[in-house]
Amino acid sequence: MTVLVTGATGNAGAEVVRALVALGVEVRALVRSPTPLDVPQVVGDLDDPASLSFFGVESLFLLPGYRDMPGVLASAADAGVRRVVLLSSPAVTASDTANAVSRYMIRSEEAVFASGLEWTVLRPNGFMSNTLRWRSQLAAGNVVRDAFGGVPVAMIDPYDIGEVAARALTSDFAGQVLELSGPEKLLPGDRVRVLGEVLGRNLSFVALSDEVARAELSAAMPAEYVHAFFSFYGDGTLDESRVHPTVQDVTGRPPRDFGTWARVHAAEFATA
Ligand SMILES: NC(=O)c1ccc[n+]([C@@H]2O[C@H](COP(=O)([O-])OP(=O)(O)OC[C@H]3O[C@@H](n4cnc5c(N)ncnc54)[C@H](OP(=O)(O)O)[C@@H]3O)[C@@H](O)[C@H]2O)c1
Repeated sequence: MTVLVTGATGNAGAEVVRALVALGVEVRALVRSPTPLDVPQVVGDLDDPASLSFFGVESLFLLPGYRDMPGVLASAADAGVRRVVLLSSPAVTASDTANAVSRYMIRSEEAVFASGLEWTVLRPNGFMSNTLRWRSQLAAGNVVRDAFGGVPVAMIDPYDIGEVAARALTSDFAGQVLELSGPEKLLPGDRVRVLGEVLGRNLSFVALSDEVARAELSAAMPAEYVHAFFSFYGDGTLDESRVHPTVQDVTGRPPRDFGTWARVHAAEFATA
């Protein structure tokens, strides 16, 4: 069996590749430009379905939110792909589903449901790897400032997304929506404390006021995404604090905790 993994250079996709290789599966990575990787690669752009080659591919690991998701899936089906595993998000269940993030996730799921392929949808909570966004602050000092300091999230290690995705890509999870979390809910300040212990540094956390957070997010992303994140975490329309049993159920072992993620990725905080 050959599996095509999109986003293979990213946090989640790289873990899907790793887990598939560990299972002895033949893996191909979709990349936008040639990249040093340990698996064969094909060049293509998810925003341009005509650029994608699915020749010989049986299963597809698919990221959400590209321009023409029905077109990507039609191209896959035409080429003989049988199964798709979509990386989605619990944002599809937020009480404000009109916001931009929920909207692109919902459209991606709808495209998968309508594709005629065997599908599995993964809805992971926020990734532990989002912590890498603190690298530049940690290169400059021992204080981490971030938005939504009072919002707990049962974050997941992308390692476990890879473990679950690899099984869904290679065995029968057809028609299942898998909600994925880590083993416990954490506040941003909890992550800073654990990261400080792992890095041997005396780190502290400062929660940004909503006003400052809105200004900083607005400088970094389009207004519709700022609105979405304030809707999720400011107004509380999305609850990612629930711990799900799925990683344990699918893999037979508990999900990795944040300390484990931090130890594995500690060196990346020395190179910001
Ligand atoms: N972060 C979270 O908490 C979270 C939670 C739930 C769901 N998600 C979803 O998970 C996705 C992946 O997250 P991540 O942290 O793994 O992202 P990431 O590390 O930023 O990686 C994104 C990947 O997508 C590839 N890519 C971007 N645009 C592309 C295009 N037009 N065509 C083909 N490939 C393209 C990138 O390839 P290049 O090397 O070419 O840039 C890279 O491999 C997110 O985009 C989001 O939709 C994230």
